[in-house]
Amino acid sequence: MSTTVHEQAEARRGAFSSRRVFVLAAIGSAVGLGNIWRFPYVAYENGGGAFVIPYLVALLTAGIPFLFLDYALGHRSRGSAPLAFARTRRATEGLGWWQVAICFMIAVYYAAVIAWALRYTFFSFDEAWGDDPEGFLFGDFLQAGDPGVDATIVPGVLVPLALVWIAVLVVMVLGVQKGIGATSVVFIPVLVIAFAALVVRSLFLPGAGEGLDALFTPDWGALGDAAVWAAAFGQIFFSLSVGFGIMITYASYVHRRTDMTGSGLVVGFANSGFELLAGIGVFAALGFMAQANGVAVGEVATDGLGLAFIAFPTIISEAPAGALIGVLFFGSLVFAGITSLISVIEVVVSAVRDKFEMTRRNAALVVTIPSALLSLVFFSTTSGVYVLDIVDHFINRFGILLVAVVSMLVLAWVVRAMPMLADHMNRNGSVRLGQWWLVLVSVVAPAALAYVLVRELIDNVQEAYEGYPGWMLGVFGWGAAAAVLVVGFVAARLRWRHPEALTIPDDRVVTEEGGQP
Ligand code: ALA
Repeated sequence: MSTTVHEQAEARRGAFSSRRVFVLAAIGSAVGLGNIWRFPYVAYENGGGAFVIPYLVALLTAGIPFLFLDYALGHRSRGSAPLAFARTRRATEGLGWWQVAICFMIAVYYAAVIAWALRYTFFSFDEAWGDDPEGFLFGDFLQAGDPGVDATIVPGVLVPLALVWIAVLVVMVLGVQKGIGATSVVFIPVLVIAFAALVVRSLFLPGAGEGLDALFTPDWGALGDAAVWAAAFGQIFFSLSVGFGIMITYASYVHRRTDMTGSGLVVGFANSGFELLAGIGVFAALGFMAQANGVAVGEVATDGLGLAFIAFPTIISEAPAGALIGVLFFGSLVFAGITSLISVIEVVVSAVRDKFEMTRRNAALVVTIPSALLSLVFFSTTSGVYVLDIVDHFINRFGILLVAVVSMLVLAWVVRAMPMLADHMNRNGSVRLGQWWLVLVSVVAPAALAYVLVRELIDNVQEAYEGYPGWMLGVFGWGAAAAVLVVGFVAARLRWRHPEALTIPDDRVVTEEGGQP
């Protein structure tokens, strides 16, 4: 009886056709906006060349060990985040839904940035921003007034945003291999080629050397500053896509005899390699901008919206063959963004399918259409840019980092699941998860993250983020962080149609049934 339910579920869930496709999909998820528009400035601000030390420490003591933990959960349990937690210990299902709710929230705003980048790819040809990229961004393009909520639709954002969501819907309906796998196999090589071309082009711009000097000159004194270490740990989690359900979900689509630890190392180092490349490309271009305007690199260095939609348009206008730089830069943002966005929304689709036993098509529709509508309502209106900034800031800290700490602590100290998860990974893994891994995921990583969180909590309570009105921070910041927690635990209260789905499927059933070699 239970075999039948499991057989049906496994057949319904789908799988990546090979380890290579899985690794490309995981790299596609990891490499995203976090790498291109966040990392370069975080590194610059936090010690430059010296940042490599906290960054590597964070990667090796928390990022990659947590990636292994996510893989172990999903791969062993063969389920989406809530099912993976429930199959590890029934009472922990809510942690999985908390992660699902975080993904839902991220998808809603992440899509908006991709839509803007899509539009800017075309703006690059005629430099639509004229000689005032900042005025153009907030005025003509986003039509943003003072911070507040105003529901006037901005057609210039609505159309590309709708296109992004249609693309996501198609990928979600096509499924794990034909949708996510196939997109990653095509997009990741294109992204690497386009971004490498951008880096080479930027390196030949006058002033590139000064930009790189500014980025890489080490400030060793920064290593004594706790904020620098906090920045490194904060960067790693979002960038590597760990802690919020993505890697659990992807790992559940991988054949049982796959070397998951070896795959994790490839993904982790590929993601960091891309961050380094992004740092070089972005700072070479900023060096050019600084020289062209006769100012220091520090005066033009920035991140996020300011980097992508103000600094880069300026560079495009001033550099020879600027349109090429524009197409490569914004095109890279779109490609990197889409492969991350589909991984984020797949967390929700996969969870809904598992729990409500829906077909892929129905789950894709049920999840993607409301997400798209919410995204359109919030981000194609004149208040979108402020809401996006606030949600992104708070969900990264009091969503992703918080759920990561709580999950690690619960799995390590309440469920005591770590040795069992290590055993699972060691069956086919090329890197043995021994005592060192148990110590990292049970003690070192949670302690480091808890420290980062407490600092962030104090900072955000003491000072209103970016000076936004209190009610906006309350609703879209603290409110959003609280909402994902509450929604998560409420969703866990809903009944499973087949309680036997909560046991882990029999190994033999799946290997006989196929999956990839
Ligand atoms: N890991 C993805 C990024 O860096 C979500 O944008």
